[in-house]
Amino acid sequence: MSGQHPEAAGRAAVPDVFDPRRYAQGIPHDRYRALRDHHPVAWQEEPEVLGWPAGTGFWAVTRHHDAVRVLRDSSTYSSYLGATQIRDPDPDDLPFIRRMMLNQDPPHHRRLRVLVSRAFTPKRLDRFTAVVRERARSLLTRAIARAQTTDGICDLVAQVTDDYALLNLTDLLGVPDSDRSLLLHWTQRVIGYQDPDEAGTPRLGTDAKPINPRSPASLRDMFDYALSLAAHKRQHPDDDVMTALAMDPELTEPELEMFFFLLVVAGNDTVRSAAPGGLHLLAQHPDAYRRLRAAEVRLTTAVEELLRRHPPVLTFRRTAAQDTELAGTRIRTGDKVVVFHASANHDERVFHDPYALDLSRSPNPHISFGDGPHVCLGAHFARLQLRALYDEARSALPDPLRLASPPRRLVSNFINGLKTLPVRVAGSS
Ligand code: HEM
Repeated sequence: MSGQHPEAAGRAAVPDVFDPRRYAQGIPHDRYRALRDHHPVAWQEEPEVLGWPAGTGFWAVTRHHDAVRVLRDSSTYSSYLGATQIRDPDPDDLPFIRRMMLNQDPPHHRRLRVLVSRAFTPKRLDRFTAVVRERARSLLTRAIARAQTTDGICDLVAQVTDDYALLNLTDLLGVPDSDRSLLLHWTQRVIGYQDPDEAGTPRLGTDAKPINPRSPASLRDMFDYALSLAAHKRQHPDDDVMTALAMDPELTEPELEMFFFLLVVAGNDTVRSAAPGGLHLLAQHPDAYRRLRAAEVRLTTAVEELLRRHPPVLTFRRTAAQDTELAGTRIRTGDKVVVFHASANHDERVFHDPYALDLSRSPNPHISFGDGPHVCLGAHFARLQLRALYDEARSALPDPLRLASPPRRLVSNFINGLKTLPVRVAGSS
């Protein structure tokens, strides 16, 4: 049921930032700004959309300071009670979803986080640097060569960044080449489910309601795969994350399955969004692009600024574990509280000239990787990939970098996705 929260009753109408279709037009920065200035903790209705049933509504948190507070204070704002997506999970699926560390609170969360961090050592991740860089170079070279023999236009998403994100992740996990397309299929099903282009029409259950793509029924094939891959790694160990997880005696099978699922979705679609998102920004800001090409800015600060302006994750949800107050708004136990990362990253209370792309911005306390106990575990690997990609792109792609047509965006209030990024790499006009 969708409706107004009693604490929100009687207040002036607030702009909607929930509707996933809105994000296909772009990030609603004007609306975010209005919320930050006038309703920093704003009640949002959750009407039925695209065949998905209405929800109870939630509080949208749009200022940087409040977002950080919510993300750090897991005893007040729980990841466990209602998990971390805006849409409420089916109550029957909740115990299952809570097995994932993303959907746990300290102190339980800590145990899994420590176990899994062991597989994510900087040494292991850095081992992939050369492979990742070579992949960026060869994907770009191939895509440009192909465009030169056709119409001079290259869709950087279809020909470079989608493969780049997926293949880097499968290397890290140790997924054999022959199984790589399975991973793409699974992540599209789980993340792109609000977008008919990505997921098709929702699969319906016996009650004619769409089946949540995160329900156990939808994930069985992925879990079976995780267990058989782990068995294979025990027989044929290698220096990859699945070997490390499969050999860890403290990790149970259900934990291993869940962790595989978490990595497949957390590690692919985020980079798959960040990579073209950054390139799109460079195409829109020719001066910044030129400075990057001339090595007048450091790649490390450039990566942070591109992530600030184009955060791959748009929202994460928490549930109030107790009555509380945030920015003067009373929040009741059980209310959904949703952090809006792109809004926090453009909060003029924290970032000078927030809509400018300043590739040497420092400090840059963006929250694209979150904050608090769940801060992204893959941030080091993500940064490594983005540095290599932008480094190779600045020499491979032309100056100016011109869009051949506007990119198409994902219908999602969760992932800030680009479905196409057509750029002109050869020829005129
Ligand atoms: C630019 C790319 C990425 C972005 C923007 C990103 C963003 C995030 C964010 C915002 C969270 C916090 C979730 C919350 O607050 O509930 C998170 C958690 C996580 N990320 Fe990433 N991520 C990226 C890449 C990756 C990669 C490449 C991996 C793995 C290979 C990864 C693995 C994880 C895991 C395992 C968690 C859960 C941590 C926990 O619950 O303690 N991420 N990520």
